[in-house]
Amino acid sequence: MCGIIGYCGPKPMAEVLLEGLKRMEYRGYDSAGIAVRTNAELSVIKRAGKIATLREAVPPELYGDCGIGHTRWATHGGVSDSNAHPHLDDSGKVAIVHNGIIENYTVLREKLSSEGVEFSSETDSEVIAHLVARLYDGDLTVTVQNTVQLLKGTYGIAVTHLDQPGLLVGARNGSPLVLGVGEHEMFLASDVTAIVGHTKQVIYLEDGEIVTISADEYRTTDLHDRSIDKHIQIINWELEEIEKGEYRHFMEKEIFEQPDSILRAMQGRLDHEYATGHLGGLNMTKKELLDLERVKIIAAGTSYYAGLVASYLIESIARIPCTVELAAEVRYRNPIVERNSIYFAVSQSGETADTLYAMRELQRKGARVLGICNVVGASIPRESDGGVYIHSGPEIAVASTKAFTSQLTALYIFTLLIARMRHMSYEQGTEFIQALEQIPEQVAAVLGGAPKTAELARTYHKARNFLFLGRGINYPVALEGALKLKEISYIHAEGYSAAEVKHGPIALIGPETPSLFLVPDDTLREKVISNMKEVKARNGQVIAVCAEGDDEVAALADHVIRVPRVHELMYPFVMTIPLQLFAYYTALELGRDVDQPRNLAKSVTVE
Ligand code: AGP
Ligand code: GLU
Repeated sequence: MCGIIGYCGPKPMAEVLLEGLKRMEYRGYDSAGIAVRTNAELSVIKRAGKIATLREAVPPELYGDCGIGHTRWATHGGVSDSNAHPHLDDSGKVAIVHNGIIENYTVLREKLSSEGVEFSSETDSEVIAHLVARLYDGDLTVTVQNTVQLLKGTYGIAVTHLDQPGLLVGARNGSPLVLGVGEHEMFLASDVTAIVGHTKQVIYLEDGEIVTISADEYRTTDLHDRSIDKHIQIINWELEEIEKGEYRHFMEKEIFEQPDSILRAMQGRLDHEYATGHLGGLNMTKKELLDLERVKIIAAGTSYYAGLVASYLIESIARIPCTVELAAEVRYRNPIVERNSIYFAVSQSGETADTLYAMRELQRKGARVLGICNVVGASIPRESDGGVYIHSGPEIAVASTKAFTSQLTALYIFTLLIARMRHMSYEQGTEFIQALEQIPEQVAAVLGGAPKTAELARTYHKARNFLFLGRGINYPVALEGALKLKEISYIHAEGYSAAEVKHGPIALIGPETPSLFLVPDDTLREKVISNMKEVKARNGQVIAVCAEGDDEVAALADHVIRVPRVHELMYPFVMTIPLQLFAYYTALELGRDVDQPRNLAKSVTVE
């Protein structure tokens, strides 16, 4: 959600800013803009719409000694050129970009207006530009420190001042901001993807920190101008990982990467000798793991569904009660933290505000919260008490795919670890590991059937409603399948337990509402078959995803997608893939913007 880029250095200014914004496009945005400091002025160009529109408006040779850029995901004020960032103060000497929400902006705006300030946008952010201009005393760093002390809410900001050649100041509270350290050039960004093409040396800012950069220097301080020493970290992935290569979309690339990404999530974490899992980052002693009486998972969206799958697994093989809750609901209901419990905050981005704030509230109450995250150095892994990185590599498409299967992998390995400390025997542990190790290959086999799913998408893309139905550990997979379809095709889709259909949703069944049934070869198979028959009896179209060789299911369904026969508990991995593909090909048929679907943001950094 929203991207900030700042640059001090000799490269063509507009080009660096526009390229940085382009790399952050995937985060989701509705307008974009840049401000470049030349000797004469702060030159601001901003447009509602895509970066391509902004690029057309930027003069080809816009040089300057520093500049800032922004992609906006509107929260306060409609999507328009004037509401796009950067915002200037009324003298035109200060330009700011802001990510987040200033909660006390109404009071600040009224006060500034009463002092004669004229506002040129409806945003909450513009007050920052006017405050900086009014508090400016010749030292931009101190001015920004003083300004942010007046703000309530969340922000990542970058500020430039006409009287400060080649200098930018950034600040963060609740919205990500990273400093890129290059050779005679420095960057600010809300996401390392924006700068990885230039430098791999980064410093992640913490809340309450301020950074001042020029081409050759940087300084980090707290809000009272006390210097803070920060460690430079090295990004360990390559530019190619955030490029599409031979694929049409990032989503397609990420779906097809899953045999590799799942393998990466398990590498070095399966202990064959003792038939258990090995997760070094949990920061828990054996005794603490053994004393564990409850596992709780908090997350949003797809990560929440990964948590739901895990809850079935944890209860069935580790025999520990496990509950999963939407992070947004946890924070405000005064959660009860029990002894001998742990929480997992599951989040691809590690920046989701709902999950981050719920985690902080739980930690305030003394909970131990572990992160299961993909983005290294993001807020959740930094602030958690331990956790697991899933090592999917950058996930650029807004719709999460490879992160989901890697989150499952990490949670499966955790479950193996605690199950082996309890009821699970050595033999069962070995069988579980073998089953898990076959997943990458089995997922590759399902991907081999992609053309068949593309055909199905051609058949069904005109449907206006879709039901996704599964049971047991595959019920959350149905929920995830429905989310995927609605996110990128905009077809209304609902996921239900197949058993639940007769309690209401069956009223929707008819030729115009197809159902996709997940029918693995497990203990619930017969039950799901009955549910399928109930739908067929009411003239519902049925697509069944079933195990290879299951002719009974194939004969009942109108269309069938076959997946390899796997260990009963491993079906969520192979069942997920066709649903991702189905959503992808349906969106293609409908000509949707697959990687950046309307209204959505990759990393939702507001509550
Ligand atoms: C997934 O396709 C979504 N775009 C969304 O539901 C996402 O999973 C959710 O916002 C949580 O994100 P996180 O994993 O980065 O916390
Ligand atoms: N609240 C600000 C606005 O609506 C910033 C939104 C963002 O983070 O992009 O302009």
